[in-house]
Amino acid sequence: MASTAVSFARENQKRFLEELKDLLRIPSISTLEEHKSDIRRASEFVAAELKRIGFENVEIIPTQGHPLIYADWLHASGKPTALVYAHYDVQPPDPVDEWTTPPFEPTERNQNVYARGAVDDKGQLWMQVKAFESLFKSGGGKLPINVRVIFEGEEEVGGESIADFIRKHGDRLKADFALVCDTELFAPELPTLCVGLRGLVYTEVEAVGAMTDLHSGMYGGAAPNPLEALSRIISRLKDDSGRILIPGFYDAVKEPSADELKAWKALPFDEEHYRKTEVGSHVLTGEPDYPVLYRTWARPTLEVHGMPGGFVAPGAKTVIPAKASAKISMRLVPDQDPDDILKKYTAFVQSLTPRGIKMNIKVHSKGPAIVVGTDNRYIKAATEALHDVFKKDTVYIRSGGSIPIVADFENVLKIPSVMMGMGLPDDNLHAPNEKFHIPNFYRGIEAIITFLQRVGGTSAEKSDGRGRK
Ligand code: BES
Ligand code: MN
Ligand code: MN
Repeated sequence: MASTAVSFARENQKRFLEELKDLLRIPSISTLEEHKSDIRRASEFVAAELKRIGFENVEIIPTQGHPLIYADWLHASGKPTALVYAHYDVQPPDPVDEWTTPPFEPTERNQNVYARGAVDDKGQLWMQVKAFESLFKSGGGKLPINVRVIFEGEEEVGGESIADFIRKHGDRLKADFALVCDTELFAPELPTLCVGLRGLVYTEVEAVGAMTDLHSGMYGGAAPNPLEALSRIISRLKDDSGRILIPGFYDAVKEPSADELKAWKALPFDEEHYRKTEVGSHVLTGEPDYPVLYRTWARPTLEVHGMPGGFVAPGAKTVIPAKASAKISMRLVPDQDPDDILKKYTAFVQSLTPRGIKMNIKVHSKGPAIVVGTDNRYIKAATEALHDVFKKDTVYIRSGGSIPIVADFENVLKIPSVMMGMGLPDDNLHAPNEKFHIPNFYRGIEAIITFLQRVGGTSAEKSDGRGRK
């Protein structure tokens, strides 16, 4: 039998979805300065809703970057306290031409809602907010446990402000565990908890050659070319098999446990299907000695994301650019230290820099990998809640992506995280035609409701402790 909160959620599904579309219409792109006021608007939209549904102490907290949103409800005496996290900022939508419908005009097609931020992460943030609305409305204004909400507006650019806030005002976020909704199911219909994320060091290598752009006929043969210098450097960062050549890069890499590797082997994963439907390339690349899930979850990588510089408009122009840059990131795994990696990378890039080029390395963001433990009552309650909703056993996976603040929850706040996300592998995160599968939006709301009820010991269904009824 469903609890009254779950019934409330079911009766209000349509309205919840329409509200989410309103949030998705706000282009809260954190990396683009010209969207600062949209970020602000998105934060006000979310804060107003938190207040309306029954949270107290709702606050938009200004930061050096984009605002944090805080709210709490702390009247469940004797019950645990959850720290509920999501982010309301999104990635840029480009290339806009490749969207079937515009990125900030949410559109429904075959049970999906298409928009930038649909699943990453406004849809999942709204899942949390709507779970709370259902609990407040059906519970006479009360929640089954204590809750602090912290939403950020700059996850997609590294999350520096929330990291600062945690270090300075950790007492304001005092909680027993964190609930993070910003990850994926391993496969459709397969309840999943994410227990590991890779870390990230994101840099921009800026190269300067001549004092101004030069005619390549007049000066070619005498002037240094920063785009070419960057290409030479990049070509020496990895070998043909995908192994990274930075000296000492792999020194601290910790292998996954034998249990983890065994569990990953048992996951329903078909490499060919993955290659065809998710990657869409002729072959898969990367270190040949490691299986795909190992490579993407537990091996560090280095990727080039873009190289601004020179003439990129259609047509031809004979120019030697005066400057160019390369956006290069490294994904890290346990126990690589971001500062140590950055040091080794910087020294190696400097050593590869050709004559005549001045090099500067800017750091966009950095943070370590995190693997969370599964042996705690919160993961257990989450597993049971997912069983209530999906009627299946949960799989525990890692993800190759990064959510910088999760490592701080563990290392600074010293609390475990439950990463319960409802994305799908083909949801096109950060890509054109991002979507959220609408049934997963609804299931996520029910899973969160049930999870919090189980943590508070007020669930409609009794547990035998193994995630089954
Ligand atoms: N939600 C993603 C991370 C993610 C994706 C986790 C898929 C699990 C499964 C998050 O919003 C993200 O994209 N993070 C950035 C962080 C970076 C910009 C600091 C990332 O991983 O690139
Ligand atoms: Mn996200
Ligand atoms: Mn993202």
